[in-house]
Amino acid sequence: MEAPEAPKKRVSAANAKKYVEGVLARNGVSMTNAAIIADCLVQADLRGVDTHGINRIPSYMARVREKVLDAAASPTLNQITPVVAQVDGHNGFGFLAAHLGMSTAIEMARDFGIGMVSVKHSNHFGMSAWIVQQAIDSGMMSLVFTNSSPALPVWGGRSKLMGVSPIACGAPAGKEKPFVLDMAPSVAARGKIYKAKRRGEKIPKDWALDAQGRQTDDPAAALEGVMLPMGGPKGSALSIMMDVFSGVISGSAFAGHVTNPYDPSRPADVGHFLIAIKPDLFVSLEDFKQRMDYLYQRVVGSDKMAGIDRIYFPGEIEQLTQEERLQSGIPYVEAEIDALNKEAEMVELLRRVHTLPRDQQRQESGRSSYALRTRSNNHSVKERVGRSDSAENPAEKIAPSEDMEQSDSF
Ligand SMILES: NC(=O)c1ccc[n+]([C@@H]2O[C@H](COP(=O)([O-])OP(=O)(O)OC[C@H]3O[C@@H](n4cnc5c(N)ncnc54)[C@H](O)[C@@H]3O)[C@@H](O)[C@H]2O)c1
Repeated sequence: MEAPEAPKKRVSAANAKKYVEGVLARNGVSMTNAAIIADCLVQADLRGVDTHGINRIPSYMARVREKVLDAAASPTLNQITPVVAQVDGHNGFGFLAAHLGMSTAIEMARDFGIGMVSVKHSNHFGMSAWIVQQAIDSGMMSLVFTNSSPALPVWGGRSKLMGVSPIACGAPAGKEKPFVLDMAPSVAARGKIYKAKRRGEKIPKDWALDAQGRQTDDPAAALEGVMLPMGGPKGSALSIMMDVFSGVISGSAFAGHVTNPYDPSRPADVGHFLIAIKPDLFVSLEDFKQRMDYLYQRVVGSDKMAGIDRIYFPGEIEQLTQEERLQSGIPYVEAEIDALNKEAEMVELLRRVHTLPRDQQRQESGRSSYALRTRSNNHSVKERVGRSDSAENPAEKIAPSEDMEQSDSF
């Protein structure tokens, strides 16, 4: 029997984005970079990849405060050949290094048909699909690889060595939905276990083993143990593949030496590998799009197995969730909102995550709902924050007025 889900409150994407930008800016991230990071994190929440959205902010900020992630760093680019470039993330946010990497790959692909970028000295970049989407928005196909901290034993092994490193790729379509594959090589992404722990929920027993090698439905016990690879040796091999392409080749950490994003004791040194491909290299663009649309129709129009109402294209469920959440808001549990707002209070931030329970929306419409709550005694944080280019901005209050539906379905 599935454990009941914790009750949720809805937050608008605009509010979530402003919140993230504000926290980041006051932790030393430039406004330009904060906008990129906020966009990636909120995209994850909008797509229903709640494991890799704004709830990651407290753990990222812990790393910034411990000075193992450089909030002020911007990535730099080294062009190796006309179609190959290297990005150095300088231990800044992984979102920035990957964003620069994919932008560069897209530019190279426009001119030469393909662009390949290796990224070193980076950090966790969250949900891979935002990078695939970046390529799709420019009309490009893509491959997006990253390595990550040990969570998975190699096939036949007992201790964690490889990361639950997602493999992602995508292709634009014509009238139909684009193809977006974004999957961890484990039965489930480890972020789903952190989410269950945060929300006080149980996990399915086939996701992970506890420290004694037993199946468990307790997320805390699972985090002490190991994730189970999807498809046995095949999942294990995909994880090693992510390490070869993202770690070995880039000059970043590999073979079990990437640091966990929740471990604020040392830099992560994550590597990524990004490829953009022009879709009309071998057939015309119009032909390519028609062929993608035909593939989509063939896939979703397949005969259904018993008990299945609808067949989805890879990435389609997430896209439908995004459409629904743009209307209805992003659902978070109370404890998550509290943890996020605690982060905001730590930096004397006015932009607070604001929930939108239906009965309060009309009352609150047209007036600000949060007063500034300063904490002038929080010197340890204040000394390190507020030096960004947003520090002089007048503080803004959130005055939500949208009427959001409280629906989880699409
Ligand atoms: N940056 C990191 O280090 C890191 C590590 C692990 C996971 N992640 C992220 O975690 C996220 C979750 O990964 P996951 O493996 O749990 O994803 P998932 O199992 O939810 O989905 C995997 C893929 O299968 C597709 N899919 C799922 N259900 C489907 C259905 N019913 N019909 C058709 N297609 C379907 C999805 O569109 C997706 O492309 C990903 O965004 C990944 O990038 C990031």
